Amino acid sequence: MSGFSESWLTLREPYDRRARNTAVLDAVAAWASERSSVAVVDLACGLGSTLRAVSERLPKRQSWRLVDNDLSLLARAAGLAKPPDLTVTAVPVDLARDLEAALDGPVELITTSALLDLVSHDWLDRLVTESAARRLPVYAALSYDGLATIDPVDDLDSVVIDAVNQHQRSDKGFGPALGPEAAATAPSRFEAIGYTVTQGSSDWVFGPKDAEIQTEVLTGWAVAAREIGGPSITDIINWLARRRGHVASGRSSMRVGHVDFFARPTGTR
Ligand SMILES: C[S@@+](CC[C@H](N)C(=O)[O-])C[C@H]1O[C@@H](n2cnc3c(N)ncnc32)[C@H](O)[C@@H]1O
Repeated sequence: MSGFSESWLTLREPYDRRARNTAVLDAVAAWASERSSVAVVDLACGLGSTLRAVSERLPKRQSWRLVDNDLSLLARAAGLAKPPDLTVTAVPVDLARDLEAALDGPVELITTSALLDLVSHDWLDRLVTESAARRLPVYAALSYDGLATIDPVDDLDSVVIDAVNQHQRSDKGFGPALGPEAAATAPSRFEAIGYTVTQGSSDWVFGPKDAEIQTEVLTGWAVAAREIGGPSITDIINWLARRRGHVASGRSSMRVGHVDFFARPTGTR
């Protein structure tokens, strides 16, 4: 997992797409069903995977404001426009600093994916407060929930996964990150201010044939575990070699837990 590189986002997108919770997407579609058009802001858009996953569930006329702080990703995502029905504005914003500015203007729906586990409690509070002040619904997909299983089991798996979960809580530019806590905390924060929340699991499921993504994820976990300094470097290297061996011989599978939710202000459809 190399940060937010184009290659990593491209590799994960089909797995994200398959994982997205259908009941949550249905709730977004039901909210949108009586509208003739919709204005969306997608926070931390990356290459635009949320637009690709959600736009078919929305009215034909859509305007998307895609927001990210990576200019190269934004430039690629801007190419998703299909005028006149689907317009796209790509806006460079540091969301840690300027979330409020990103939400200003004509917006009817906030979307995001694979972001909330990177942000802090304080930033999540800002998102909840700003969404509620504007009475905006929020679709947030693919927050990692800390539950990962690998088959066949290795004695060091749980030690590495614990280290990864600790690493997930380190600062990713928004202050101390929620990490795995985001999956439960974010929907409950919206419920606490009176939103109606539909949520469901969106786990990554990798089978023996999904070798490339398994190798990327396992390597990323080894790097994270080394940075946290839990297991010894020798133990991590040997663990990664054993795991890669299972992947290469086509007998490795993995499940990595995620959660999606759609939160809408009570009284809106
Ligand atoms: C895990 S990627 C998810 C991208 C996309 N939503 C997806 O699901 O493929 C996280 C995204 O957050 C963006 N990001 C990280 N920190 C940011 C910040 N401070 N302001 C704006 N975007 C940020 C990254 O550039 C990256 O595109």
